[in-house]
Amino acid sequence: MYTKICEGLGIEFPIFAFSHCRDVVVAVSKAGGLGVLGAGFMNAEQLKEELDWIESHIDGKPYAVDVVIPQNYVGRDEPDLSEQELEDKLWKMVPQAHLDAAEKLMRDHGVPEWPEDGRPKILGWTMQTVMPCIKEALTRPNCKAIVNALGTPPEHVINMVKESGRMIGALCGKKKQAVQHKNAGLDFVVAQGGEGGGHTPEVGSVVLWPEIIDAVHPMPVLAAGGIGNGRQMLAAMSMGAAGVWTGSLWLTVEEAHAQPAQKNTLLNATVNDTVRTTSWTGKGARVLRNEWTDFWDNKENLDPLPMPLHGLVTADAMRRTETYAGSGNCQNVAINICGQVIGQINEIESCRGVVTRLLTQYLDALENVNALMPDY
Ligand SMILES: Cc1cc2nc3c(=O)[nH]c(=O)nc-3n(C[C@H](O)[C@H](O)[C@H](O)COP(=O)(O)O)c2cc1C
Repeated sequence: MYTKICEGLGIEFPIFAFSHCRDVVVAVSKAGGLGVLGAGFMNAEQLKEELDWIESHIDGKPYAVDVVIPQNYVGRDEPDLSEQELEDKLWKMVPQAHLDAAEKLMRDHGVPEWPEDGRPKILGWTMQTVMPCIKEALTRPNCKAIVNALGTPPEHVINMVKESGRMIGALCGKKKQAVQHKNAGLDFVVAQGGEGGGHTPEVGSVVLWPEIIDAVHPMPVLAAGGIGNGRQMLAAMSMGAAGVWTGSLWLTVEEAHAQPAQKNTLLNATVNDTVRTTSWTGKGARVLRNEWTDFWDNKENLDPLPMPLHGLVTADAMRRTETYAGSGNCQNVAINICGQVIGQINEIESCRGVVTRLLTQYLDALENVNALMPDY
């Protein structure tokens, strides 16, 4: 199972774990995989704090940082505005009716108010917010890769990361995007099929993975979307993937920061409880279906706004439903980002336990497949 990408990154197993929790990142890297810190909700100051902690707990093991530079977003043609100026401009573009609708949904479901005045910070999804984060990550000795979601990173970012001696990769949900990543000189791509959590295409993993693997050969492709056990991992590797990139698996682990009420919602969810919706950010993403997604997905209600404007509508709901996860009927309107594989995740495990389980199940499945071969 040791692939070339393991050698490049200095990891034992090609198991990549995307998480917003620093404890998960550290625990997976210490277990032999690669923890990937999602910085999409952070500015540089917050990221600095997280990376200080990771660097002092990770015992010299490698990890990666995932950022979000969308290929297209409202405000991308305003590179000369400061972060604050862009944020002010974007907030002015959010119709009051959208904010009122979000507030009503939260009030109707008993979600407590946020204790302080002031709007939530914009998600870290503009060049103005992301660049200082990338520069911060590149000062860290154990951060061995930068990965981008939602598009090919700009040339100057690719050059900056490569000149620092690190790898750079990006997610994709279509062959065309994968080829664009390859032509731009990335080191690897993450091919995410539709069953995956977060931003995700319509096409499912079993169809998408081999299409992308063939299209960008010999570039390493990490298979994402729907990996929750070692059998699924073996399927991906047998198609030629260089490793597996996972997200939902780590939402309910011991080390994850989520409140117990949010973890319980996820642990109780079935394979049929997710939906691909634009109600989180304005772009298609898989989350648990509830009153929040039903409202914005209903054509008779307001349409979700384009990225990153809808993220501004959602930001207050996210911070309130995460912080007060057990209050009122918070879970009815919480944005619980996860993939279909959540139906397989029914108990709390440790990160090391998950890595060991994946490896054991992988080997068992391989043995079963080999046993199918006739003895000549
Ligand atoms: C809670 C959550 C948040 C996510 N946010 C991001 C993100 O900010 N950047 C990113 O590249 N991928 C993000 N993803 C997608 C994951 O990186 C990964 O590709 C996906 O979870 C794989 O599918 P799986 O959920 O079936 O494992 C997110 C996934 C989840 C579950």
